[in-house]
Amino acid sequence: MAAERVIEMAADISKYRDDFPVLQTQMHGKPLAFLDSGASAQKPQTVIDAMNNVYKTGYSNIHRGLYEVSQNLTADYEAVRSKVAGFIGAPSEKNIVFTGNATEGINLVVQSWGKTFLNRGDEIILTEMEHHANIVPWQMLRDDIGVVIKTIPFDKRGILDLEAFERLLTHKTRLVSFVHISNALGTVNPVKKIIEIAKDFYPDMRVLVDGSQGVAHSAINMQELDADFYVFTGHKLYGPSGIGVLYGKEELLNDMPPYKGGGDMIERVTFNETTYKAAPYKFEAGTPPIVEVIGLGAAIDYVSGIGMESIAEHEAELLAYGTEKLQEIDGLTIHGTAPDKAGILSFTIDGTHPSDIGMILDQCGVAVRAGHHCCMPLMEKLGLDATVRASLGLYSNKNDIDQLVEGLHKVKEMFQ
Ligand code: ALA
Repeated sequence: MAAERVIEMAADISKYRDDFPVLQTQMHGKPLAFLDSGASAQKPQTVIDAMNNVYKTGYSNIHRGLYEVSQNLTADYEAVRSKVAGFIGAPSEKNIVFTGNATEGINLVVQSWGKTFLNRGDEIILTEMEHHANIVPWQMLRDDIGVVIKTIPFDKRGILDLEAFERLLTHKTRLVSFVHISNALGTVNPVKKIIEIAKDFYPDMRVLVDGSQGVAHSAINMQELDADFYVFTGHKLYGPSGIGVLYGKEELLNDMPPYKGGGDMIERVTFNETTYKAAPYKFEAGTPPIVEVIGLGAAIDYVSGIGMESIAEHEAELLAYGTEKLQEIDGLTIHGTAPDKAGILSFTIDGTHPSDIGMILDQCGVAVRAGHHCCMPLMEKLGLDATVRASLGLYSNKNDIDQLVEGLHKVKEMFQ
């Protein structure tokens, strides 16, 4: 019933598939069924054009040139900062730090906020479903200053145990850092609820949300969520790689020291002393990814034109369709069956290693990821070393799923 209701509601956004040139190509002589958007999404023509146009008609460095080309590009670059703020419902562009990717955003918080405000014995709570990007930087901090890391468990369906979370909170807990949408299971975590629990327990508790998948599959609003930090990357949002965003509350960013030193983040440098610009600029040392920022702006315009709600509805319809089709295959287990789930289908097939499945699907024109999805602790909890993951984007359609299912029947013929 639930799936039928979703199908009735789903927005028809199928025409947008034609905006993605790569989806008109073939792989091994078969139409490309691209089901690896969780790793990186394809780019619409408008993003490609926006970036090419900068190189063709108006490229220079920014923040440094007195000439028109540089001034114009600086204005366009800063306009994207405001656009990002509007897109995620941030109070102001001052909340938006451009980084290289989501990983860099987390490392920035760890190295700057963590090293400044945490002490030996302070506790950090992560979840068992984190990507390595939200584990390893905290372990580096643990090894450096002696913070303690705890983890919220998840159940068989891939749902976080919030009662266990409440039991983990102590007077030493200073930060909760967790993923919005699991890249390996598809679980949409109850972000608002987790933040409320954390802040009810201790109003100065800091919360970081890894929104790498979240921002691409749902509409988000920082002021509604009340996260202290939210990180995401451009390349999963139909923009280029090499550009990410760290959202931070203004008072926190103001109190945090720079994380990298160099040009463009300073007010005055002498050999005795350096003074820094205000946030967010003090965090952006060196020539930034200028053209990538412009590409990110074009990607935000593009998805905003379709509407994040419509994208989410479309993906929910396809997820229901894909789930039904995969469940018909004998010996196939879907990992991650939370009721609130985004467009990710992670699965294994009895008797066949995920890498073999991935290689055969490649020959069938189907692009999926097979492996641990940078979530080794999550895999260990599932008792697996790998899954096959089909992940959806706004351009995915039923043909892609049908091609996947056909490929899986070939796998079964070959291996079983
Ligand atoms: N984090 C990306 C993934 O889930 C690369 O595949």
